[in-house]
Amino acid sequence: MAIVAMTRLNKLYDGGGEPAVTDLSLTVTDGEFMVLLGPSGCGKSSVLRMIAGLEPITSGEVAIDGKIVNEVPAKDRDIAMVFQSYALYPHMDVFNNLAFGLRRRGVAKAEIERRVQGAASKLGLLPFLKRKPHALSGGQRQRVALGRAIVREPKVFLFDEPLSNLDAALRVSTRNELIRQQRELGITAIYVTHDQIEAMTMGHRICIMNKGEVIQIGKPLEVYRNPANIFVARFLGNPPMNLIPTSIQAEGGGWQLRVGGASLPADCWPSEALSRLGSQALLGIRPEDLYETASPPGDRRLVAMARAGVIAVEPLGAETLIVLSLEGVAEEVIARAGRETRLRPGDNAAIELDLAAAHLFDPTTGQVVPRIHDEREARWAKAE
Ligand SMILES: Nc1ncnc2c1ncn2[C@@H]1O[C@H](COP(=O)(O)OP(=O)(O)O)[C@@H](O)[C@H]1O
Ligand SMILES: [Mg+2]
Repeated sequence: MAIVAMTRLNKLYDGGGEPAVTDLSLTVTDGEFMVLLGPSGCGKSSVLRMIAGLEPITSGEVAIDGKIVNEVPAKDRDIAMVFQSYALYPHMDVFNNLAFGLRRRGVAKAEIERRVQGAASKLGLLPFLKRKPHALSGGQRQRVALGRAIVREPKVFLFDEPLSNLDAALRVSTRNELIRQQRELGITAIYVTHDQIEAMTMGHRICIMNKGEVIQIGKPLEVYRNPANIFVARFLGNPPMNLIPTSIQAEGGGWQLRVGGASLPADCWPSEALSRLGSQALLGIRPEDLYETASPPGDRRLVAMARAGVIAVEPLGAETLIVLSLEGVAEEVIARAGRETRLRPGDNAAIELDLAAAHLFDPTTGQVVPRIHDEREARWAKAE
C-alpha cells in the first residue's frame, strides 16, 4: 500500500524565473489513479520528478506512507516511472528489457523469471519475448515500458505522458490496457497528461494545474460539471464551455440575466452574490446544454434564448456542432445538436438553454459563483 502526500511543494529551477511549482498540496490515496492535467509548461513533470527523486525539492514535503522522502535517493523510493519515450535497450530482447532492472537490483534468477513471465502474460507480450524493440510496434514497445515498471512491483507508478507518441487508435487501446492494469494491480498511480480525454477516462481523480498551481481537484465528471473557475471551464470539454457576457438586472424583486436580447431568471444564484457582482458576469453553458428544439429529457430546466443566427453547421458524424450568433454578443456560441439537425447556415434558430446546467462566473476573478440549491447535482446523484 502507498499513500503519496505532497505538502506545500515548491520548485524553483536554478537561473531564476517564475517558480515551476507553487505551494502544491495533494494527497493521493492508496490504489488511486490520480491524473495531473494542465497545459504544457504548467509544472506537471516537475511535480512528478520531485516525487521520483529525480529533481531536488525547493521547499515543501513529499511523504510516502507517512514517511518524508525528500532526502531519500531516487533508487530507494520504490517508485517506477514510465516516460513518453520508452527508452528501451535496443540491443536487448523483450525478456532482457524486462529483466534488466531486476538483475541490477540483484533479484534472484528464478524470481526474475517468475515476474517477467507474469508481466509479459498480463500485457500480452509472451509471443514477443525474443524480439528486439525494433521489431515491435509502438504500442508493443509502450507495453514493454509498462512491463518494466510492473516487474519491479513498486509502491507507486509515475507516468509522464506515456501515450503521447502513439497514434490515435493505439492511444485508445493502450489507454484501456493501462487502466485495466492499474485497477487490477491496485498500485497507486500518478499520471501526467495535457490530454483532457486521457484525464477524464483514466483518473479516479484529476488535479488540474495552471502556472505551477493547483486549480481544482476532483472526480472527472465533478470537475467537468462544476468547474471552479473560467480556466477549468475552458480547459475541459471540446468544444469548451461557452462563456457568454451577460448583464445582471434587478427586476420586480428578483434578478434577471440579460443575454443576447433574452431574459433569464437568475434565481439559482444567491441574491447577495448577484448584487456583489455588479452588473456584469459571464454565463457558462456547455454546448450539450443548449437545445435546438423543446424535446429534451424531462428533467431539464429549459429557458428560451433570443433567436440565434446560425453561422455554421459542422457535422461530425455522431453529432453536429452549430455555431451561433446571439444578438448583441460578440462571441460565437456553440451548441451540440443531434446528427439529424435540419439547421443550415443563415437560419434563425430557436435555442433553449438548460438553466440547471448553467454557471455564472465573476469576470474579474474568473471564479464561479456558487449556486443556491443544486438541482443538477440531485439529478446526477439519482442517475449515478
Ligand atoms: N531543468 C529545468 N531547468 C529550468 N527550467 C525548467 C526545467 N525543467 C522545467 N523547467 C521549467 O519549469 C516550468 C514547468 O515545466 P514542466 O514541469 O516540464 O511542465 P509540464 O510538464 O507541465 O509541461 C516550465 O516553465 C519549464 O520551462
Ligand atoms: Mg511535462
